Amino acid sequence: MNYGARHVAIIMDGNGRWAAARGEPRVVGHRAGLEALRRIVRAAPSLGIEYLSVYAFSTENWKRPAEEVDALMDLLVEYLRSEVDELDQEHVRMLFLGDSSALPERCQREMEIAAARTADNDGLKLAIAMNYGGRDEIVRAVRRVLEAGLDPEALDEDQFGGHLDTAGMPDPDLVIRASGEMRLSNFLLWQTAYAEIYVAPQYWPDFDHDVLQEALEAFLRRERRYGGLS
Ligand code: FPP
Repeated sequence: MNYGARHVAIIMDGNGRWAAARGEPRVVGHRAGLEALRRIVRAAPSLGIEYLSVYAFSTENWKRPAEEVDALMDLLVEYLRSEVDELDQEHVRMLFLGDSSALPERCQREMEIAAARTADNDGLKLAIAMNYGGRDEIVRAVRRVLEAGLDPEALDEDQFGGHLDTAGMPDPDLVIRASGEMRLSNFLLWQTAYAEIYVAPQYWPDFDHDVLQEALEAFLRRERRYGGLS
């Protein structure tokens, strides 16, 4: 089934609360969150999704205890190492959003391998946002524009978009946020200008095909006007 949402962006929130509700440490929630990510990546193509962007680590997440930050970095490495073969066979192309230069060497290495290995794949585009912040992305894009010495009068929205981490990707049609919070939290600020927002009550580790389908069904009922009248 195709719901007309080519690009879905997900804020994977609630891992900590999911763990706390079970009396477990937060990292147990992140591990369960990784399982949810595996499920959602598998479900996405059958629901007509062409681009899936997931917020895995924000520029603000460095403020968390070092143990939790390390655990998240390890989970990224584990995910890439364990899944890249299967994702490649499923024609998934892996992309990364954010400033990877500040990530540990081991993360950068696996990200480069995964991106290069899947670069020619024409299936689902999976963009993992790691050390990503919407404001940081815009500042980095402005730097690139200045470095390119572009004529200020010639700069337009399309050209600017080509300097963002999402260059070449369509804007998200739908942003899904798990666990009830109603914020964008610095995710894809430029790109979500006309995105529909769906807030799911479930914690991210409880996400599966059916929750994703519910979000897409809600999206299908929305009337998108892009500032026009109909
Ligand atoms: C927000 O939940 C979640 C994160 C900051 C990390 C998201 C990470 C994963 C889903 C798994 C790891 C995947 C990769 C690819 C690294 P929270 O911890 O803020 O939850 P809380 O609001 O309930 O405390």
